[in-house]
Amino acid sequence: MLHWKQGVFPVLLSNGFQNLRLNKHPFYRFRLFSLLIVAPLAILSLFTLWFGYKHVSYSIYHPPLRALNETIDAVFSHGCKNVALEAQMHPRMNATFVVLARNSEVDGVVSSMRSVESHFNRHFNYPYVFLNDVPFDDNFKDAVLKETSAFVEFGTLDAESFGFPNWANLEVEKEEIAKQGDLGIMYGDMESYHHMCRFFSGFFYKHPLMQKYQWYWRVEPDIEFTCDITYDPFYYMDINKKMYGFVIAIKELEDTVPNMFRYVSAYKREHKLDSDLWDFFITKKDKKARSAMPLTTIDKKAQIMHAFKNFPQNSLKGLLVDENADSTTQMEGDAYNMCHFWSNFEIANLDLFRNDEYEQFFHEMEQTGGFWRERWGDAPFHSLAAGLLLRKEQLHYFRDFGYRHSDIYHCGQNLGCNCECLPNIEEIEAKPGACIKEWADIMGGFLD
Ligand SMILES: *[C@@H]1O[C@H](CO)[C@@H](O)[C@H](O)[C@H]1NC(C)=O
Ligand SMILES: *[C@@H]1O[C@H](CO)[C@@H](O)[C@H](O)[C@H]1NC(C)=O
Repeated sequence: MLHWKQGVFPVLLSNGFQNLRLNKHPFYRFRLFSLLIVAPLAILSLFTLWFGYKHVSYSIYHPPLRALNETIDAVFSHGCKNVALEAQMHPRMNATFVVLARNSEVDGVVSSMRSVESHFNRHFNYPYVFLNDVPFDDNFKDAVLKETSAFVEFGTLDAESFGFPNWANLEVEKEEIAKQGDLGIMYGDMESYHHMCRFFSGFFYKHPLMQKYQWYWRVEPDIEFTCDITYDPFYYMDINKKMYGFVIAIKELEDTVPNMFRYVSAYKREHKLDSDLWDFFITKKDKKARSAMPLTTIDKKAQIMHAFKNFPQNSLKGLLVDENADSTTQMEGDAYNMCHFWSNFEIANLDLFRNDEYEQFFHEMEQTGGFWRERWGDAPFHSLAAGLLLRKEQLHYFRDFGYRHSDIYHCGQNLGCNCECLPNIEEIEAKPGACIKEWADIMGGFLD
């Protein structure tokens, strides 16, 4: 009689039997034990550590925003509005999203659109204008069209609006751009970055696809909205007579705009412009602080001439009158405090740009070469232009919006609708680089 082990599964069992015998050795028993018990424990404790790291120790508490005096500018909605009602209450505004992007940025663009659509545009269906210095490829177009049911157009920039003007001395300008790389100025040696800033300063509102609109909302790749937007911001801007809306106001890197303020100040004086918004951008220097400066007038002139040595001499007209300036960011005793509205998010009326005053301002500023010899951003450019051309009640702080770009973030907290504050980025208003204090100062102060 055959033993069942040998008869039924002889080969399989002869191998299995050997293994079984080996496993009886205490060493292997220990290994089995460790695999069954220790490994899950180790995984569990690693997971606990990771979870704690992510959610407990590094989760940032976003305290409620300090109450601001809202006499001059108030948020359009505290909390949520009835979005279905809001969307039906008034006709669509004459408005569009505008996105400047490269084909390679398609993923970032899609990610931004998902955020815009889910928090706002699925209810309001505003169109998009996509712009690029080269034609968009099919991959980009297909990806973008999948994200929205709104009307979408794709445009290409011409050489005039994205490049050097024909009067520029290319050799000199390119050399100046290269130098900014050596000086470590952020994006300073990226020629296309200079073109992008110039484009948004003086051209985007003239693009044929933008001509048919009155309002725009600028969107960049890789941004994120973290509250629901349950009303039409264009509509509320309009009925509240607002021209320019922002979410983040911060200080610019001084080495990107060392002489911008002097030029804008000189322009302001020459054209006798006056606005109560200007105070947002300046630190007033009192006489005492000024006389304490050790430099003689001659030293100051030499210093300023040195700072301007790369600029065309005829554009210096009117700039050296201020004997008391002690650095290039100052004018008539006022210093630029570097505050500006971040322009990667903007909701504004295109009439801010489409007028002779802005056109002349852009033209004169461009003549100085500052878009290449320095790295003037379109954000301080738009901001200082607003400081010349708008009154403070024409500005709007979308303080109820949650908005993130790179690692700069405003949450919306207690003001917005369904805000889910990001756990790992601090609120910009609580950081030292913010300009909330300067904003509060011109708008009637905090209420606490
Ligand atoms: C929208 O605004 C633009 C620019 O002001 C204007 O040319 C256009 O006619 C307006 N469109 C409508 C439908 O009102
Ligand atoms: C709020 O601001 C307005 C305008 O600047 C000012 O008249 C008013 O006194 C301020 N209110 C408070 C409570 O500070």
